[in-house]
Amino acid sequence: MPTDPYWNHNTRYHPWILEQVPAHARTALDIGCGDGLLARKLATHCDAVLGVDVDDAVLATAPAAANVHLELADFRDLDDTFDMVTAVATLHHVPLHEGLAALRHLVAPGGTLAIVGLWKMHPLTDFHYLPLLPAIHGMDWWHRRSRGGPAAVVRDAQESLAQIRAATTELLPGARVRRRLMWRYTLVWRRPRQLG
Ligand SMILES: C[S@@+](CC[C@H](N)C(=O)[O-])C[C@H]1O[C@@H](n2cnc3c(N)ncnc32)[C@H](O)[C@@H]1O
Repeated sequence: MPTDPYWNHNTRYHPWILEQVPAHARTALDIGCGDGLLARKLATHCDAVLGVDVDDAVLATAPAAANVHLELADFRDLDDTFDMVTAVATLHHVPLHEGLAALRHLVAPGGTLAIVGLWKMHPLTDFHYLPLLPAIHGMDWWHRRSRGGPAAVVRDAQESLAQIRAATTELLPGARVRRRLMWRYTLVWRRPRQLG
């Protein structure tokens, strides 16, 4: 795969996302796709990729790519299903339960949902994370020359990791949530072929 045009705390997790794509996947959806970098990578694994974003300015910066269609839309308004659904740094832009429920409906039976999300750090409950800060800043320094990316709309996370885990248990039973570096968590959920 060609080198990324830029590096940031989100592109850092693209390799992890691509590892989650099921072998049978033909269709993929990236919500909050920004300039479509991840959508273009998903197109190397799937026949058809849809990216949606509510920001037409960032969509306008996306280069055209085969098998990739980018569209101005709110993911909560979509009603198709996809073999692979991804959300990078986007779920915290909408109320957590509403966003998770909408994402669940977008995953085809046997499909996969992979989220890279932001959690809200609190110095009292997340104090054990503090010693990792030098490693995080070291990683930033290492990648400094290639940092950047599109001017996408950003928002601070509102929920703690405990709140995200609780909502996930409720709405996506069987999902795996892992705390990650750089104030990120990853969530992967495989929708059963028969959903009860
Ligand atoms: C922090 S940016 C992340 C962009 C991209 N996923 C990345 O990793 O660089 C969040 C994106 O989500 C988009 N967004 C926010 N709410 C959305 C919604 N309800 N439906 C679709 N996109 C949304 C924003 O416009 C923004 O481009």
